[in-house]
Amino acid sequence: MPAVVNVNGQISNEDEARISVFDHGFLYGEGVYETLLTYNKKIFLLDRHIKRLRRSADQINLSVPLADQELESRIQATLDEAALGDTPTYIRILLTRGIGPLTYDLKACLSPSLVIIVRPHTFPSEKLATKGALVALVSIIRNHPRSVNPLIKSNNLMNNALAMQEGYSKGANESLMCNYRGELTECSQSNFFLVKDGQIRTPELGSGLLAGITRGFLLELGPEIGIPTSEAVLHQDDILKSEEAFFTSTTKEIVPVVRVDDHVIGEGVPGPITKRLMAAFREKIEHLCR
Ligand code: PDD
Repeated sequence: MPAVVNVNGQISNEDEARISVFDHGFLYGEGVYETLLTYNKKIFLLDRHIKRLRRSADQINLSVPLADQELESRIQATLDEAALGDTPTYIRILLTRGIGPLTYDLKACLSPSLVIIVRPHTFPSEKLATKGALVALVSIIRNHPRSVNPLIKSNNLMNNALAMQEGYSKGANESLMCNYRGELTECSQSNFFLVKDGQIRTPELGSGLLAGITRGFLLELGPEIGIPTSEAVLHQDDILKSEEAFFTSTTKEIVPVVRVDDHVIGEGVPGPITKRLMAAFREKIEHLCR
């Protein structure tokens, strides 16, 4: 099923969608994005995604050219055109600096480009959820916060791509990155969690990572179902001492991790706390997207 694409309000199929090569998103990677999912025709945690889009844009001196309601209508019009019914649907919103001459001058681009891509979503295989994933701890470090701050959900994903490519070469499903101080940060496309002494822990934002929407949601959900959940500075040693691990994202939800490089986590199968969290997360999705 081809994607439906909305470029600055103009909807077409993926073969006809066009964007200028003079767009600074293409020329310089200057842009921000969000990835969202629908369940049962409803967009999951839309408000949180829109807020983060505005925060990301702000940090590169860009503003989202639409009010929340207008943006929502534009997403909905694109979804309507795709007519995917109840099929879980992937939505990617890209906001770039816009078209302009070859200069970094902010004044060069008069208006940002807003692209929305909609297509049916494919979740990770059932096998990954039941057997667990392999994560590679890679040599690429997460961007320094005073470089492209990892809090910005940037269209410029070169660092993440290099990290994942290193992981692929080791047969891994995800790549975990440290920061310049050697602290654990996050994976190439997801946030990382450990379980120790029955408590869920995830690297704190100060280590330099994206404030994942799923991560934030799970930091609230853990305590709701009686599992202490917190943010902390974590190191490679913490992986060795952990009973369970998992990674999270909008598109992958919660994926249990059973091995990091050669180190087997716990019993080498998805652990009980991870499974409880996965079940509770599913229930929340069903409740919020009825
Ligand atoms: N990526 N960290 C990174 C570097 C990511 O790229 C993502 C998500 C996450 C998880 O964030 P969230 O829970 O808000 O999806 C963490 C999306 C799915 C993507 O690249 O399409």
